[in-house]
Amino acid sequence: PPVNKPVVLVAEELSEAGLAVLGADFEVRHTDGADRAQLLPALAEVDALIVRSATQVDAEALSHAPRLRVVARAGVGLDNVDVAAATKAGVMVVNAPTSNITSAAEHTVALILASARNVAQGHSALKAGEWKRSKYTGVELDAKVVGILGLGRIGQLVAQRLAPFGVDIIAYDPYLQPARAAQMGVRLVTLEEVLKQADFITVHLPKSKETIGLIGERELHAVKPSVRIVNVARGGIVDENALYSALKEGRVAGAGIDVFAKEPCTDSPLFELDNVVVTPHLGASTHEAQEKAGTQVARSVKLALAGEFVPDA
Ligand code: MLT
Repeated sequence: PPVNKPVVLVAEELSEAGLAVLGADFEVRHTDGADRAQLLPALAEVDALIVRSATQVDAEALSHAPRLRVVARAGVGLDNVDVAAATKAGVMVVNAPTSNITSAAEHTVALILASARNVAQGHSALKAGEWKRSKYTGVELDAKVVGILGLGRIGQLVAQRLAPFGVDIIAYDPYLQPARAAQMGVRLVTLEEVLKQADFITVHLPKSKETIGLIGERELHAVKPSVRIVNVARGGIVDENALYSALKEGRVAGAGIDVFAKEPCTDSPLFELDNVVVTPHLGASTHEAQEKAGTQVARSVKLALAGEFVPDA
C-alpha cells in the first residue's frame, strides 16, 4: 500500500533551492496564502506550512489545520504568525532570521540614495520625455546625520554600509548597550534626539504593539523639514496618514517606502506625492535572500517533522 508522506503546504513563492531541500520525502502542495478561501480548506491535511509575509497564520487558520506540526516563515520576524495561538495548539514556529538581512540593508541604502537624488522621479520624467535637471536637484549624504531606529541585525548592516558615505550615524535602540553601538561608530540617543537631529531616518524595528505608529503625527512635527524617511521594515511603524500630511505640508522632505500597513497596497495617497519613492515590499526580494530563506526553512521543516531538534538558523 502507498505510504502517506507528510504534507507540506507552500503558501507563498518558495525558492527552487528550498523545494529541492524538501526533496521527495514530502508531498508538497501549493496554495495562495493571501487568499483565505484557498488557504483555509488547503490546511486540512497539512503537517507543515511554509509562508512569507502575505499569509496570516492566525488562530482561525490554525483551527483549520488539525495535523499541523510546524509553521515556517521564510524571512525575518514573525508578525504574521500568531505564535501564542500556535504554541497553544502544539505547533512549532520557525523562521529564517538572517536569510535576508543583507538584502534588506542593501535595499535600504538604495532607497536612501534614491530619495536623496530623486532617481525614481527623474527616471519617470525622462521616460515621459522631460529633461528636468534643476527640478530634481538632490542632496548629498556626506556630512549628514543618519538616524537608525532599531540597531539590530539589519540596522547594524545599514550602519556599516552607510559609514563610507561620510555620514554621522546616531541610533535609537532601547535594547542595545551604548558601548556596543560605540564599537560600530554609532552614537545611541533617545528617539527625540533622532527626530531632532537626523537628515535621514531609517526604520529597522520589528512590528509590535510598541512600534506600530512609533513615527506618527507628533514625531513628524518634531523632525527637521529637510529629513528623508525610509521604511524597509514593516508597514505601520511609520504612520502612512501622518507621513502623507508631513510630506504634503513640507514638514518632511522625502520618503522611501517599501512596506505598507496593508499589503498588497496598490493604491495609497502617498503615491500621489512627487517626493516619495515606493517599492512593493522588495527588501528581501533578491535571488540570494530567497535561496537562503527557502533552504533554511526547508531544513527546519524537515527536522521538525522528523521530531528532531531545530537549531536557530
Ligand atoms: C521578512 O520579514 O523577512 C520579509 O518581509 C519576508 C518577505 O519578503 O516576505
